[in-house]
Amino acid sequence: MKNTQIFTIHDCLKQRAEMETAARAIRDGKLVVFPTETVYGLGADATNADAAKNIFLAKGRPSDNPLIIHIADPDEAGIYAEVTESYKKLADAFMPGPLTVILKKKDIIPAAVTGGLDTVAVRCPSDPVAHELIRLSKKPIAAPSANLSGKPSPTSPEHVLHDMNGRADVILVSGDCEIGLESTIVLLKGDEAVILRPGAVTYDALCCVLEKVSVSEAVTGQLKEDERPLSPGMKYRHYAPTAPFVLLDGDSQKVLRFCCERAKDKDALFLCFDEETDAIGKDFCLPVGPRDDLRTQARNLFSSLRKADTTDAKIIYGHLPPKTGLGLALYNRMIRAAAHTIQEIK
Ligand code: TXA
Ligand code: MG
Repeated sequence: MKNTQIFTIHDCLKQRAEMETAARAIRDGKLVVFPTETVYGLGADATNADAAKNIFLAKGRPSDNPLIIHIADPDEAGIYAEVTESYKKLADAFMPGPLTVILKKKDIIPAAVTGGLDTVAVRCPSDPVAHELIRLSKKPIAAPSANLSGKPSPTSPEHVLHDMNGRADVILVSGDCEIGLESTIVLLKGDEAVILRPGAVTYDALCCVLEKVSVSEAVTGQLKEDERPLSPGMKYRHYAPTAPFVLLDGDSQKVLRFCCERAKDKDALFLCFDEETDAIGKDFCLPVGPRDDLRTQARNLFSSLRKADTTDAKIIYGHLPPKTGLGLALYNRMIRAAAHTIQEIK
């Protein structure tokens, strides 16, 4: 167990001492948890192989699952990777922000960071604390989500303290993450972009910038047993609550009727829409947001999955999200949490 230093950051420009302590920890090869606009990250100097190895140990993460490197300015990508025209277009449109781009790596990034791959994932976060930490440390910061491997990504101070107190050297907390789902990951193949993980930078938004955009089959489908995914993270089971998690698909009135009926057995928990709580009964509901508000649903999803795990529900139900807009990111996370279990309501 480490003696973790915990700082609550209200204003990263005024709290120089705390921010300098965290930046020094990065330079010294230590582990620092920091907020981003997507989820909290567990960071270390991306040019230091030993520091990167400690990230895998602290999370209990398999060492072949590569890390994203976080930079303070999108123009710095060229120091660490081979930058292409498509990268520049994406960077102009979406950085700083919730987009990660996979590029050919340069030697300065050790193989320990990229799980032995010859590519590296690059992201420039917009969160001011993340930005200031990277700027002050003068290092690229390798950071996966700051959860214990297999748990939902942390989106609140409570989550990071639960998972990382005693494992990281420094924890910076600054409230709940604005987006609540991890960044969109894009693989560039010439002028073509393949979405490996959907996020708040949507397919439609990417299509406004690049002509050829596609979505990897693994985003909505199930990998076959012997299949090698484009992104190693796709093969790991994620976010799964202990109780079986089932996604309900069908006409909204019929689904609500099913939930009300099923609630009578008092052994199920419903990740429902706000407006359904009264009908189902609030003791059995974890409302994730209004039906038409995907942003709120995205912000609440991981928190709801963590809460669901603390109840003694025998089964958890949720709504199958649409595959359009931000819905695709929700769909991707929920379908994996549910191990692809969908119940059709007729
Ligand atoms: O929003 C985010 O992206 C957060 C915050 C902290 O920035 N980070 C995050 O990191 O979600 P992580 O490690 O939990 O997820 C990164 C995913 C993994 O599935 C990994 O396999 C994939 O990105 N990845 C990283 N480098 C890759 C590479 N070179 N090629 C293919 N996939 C890569
Ligand atoms: Mg993760």
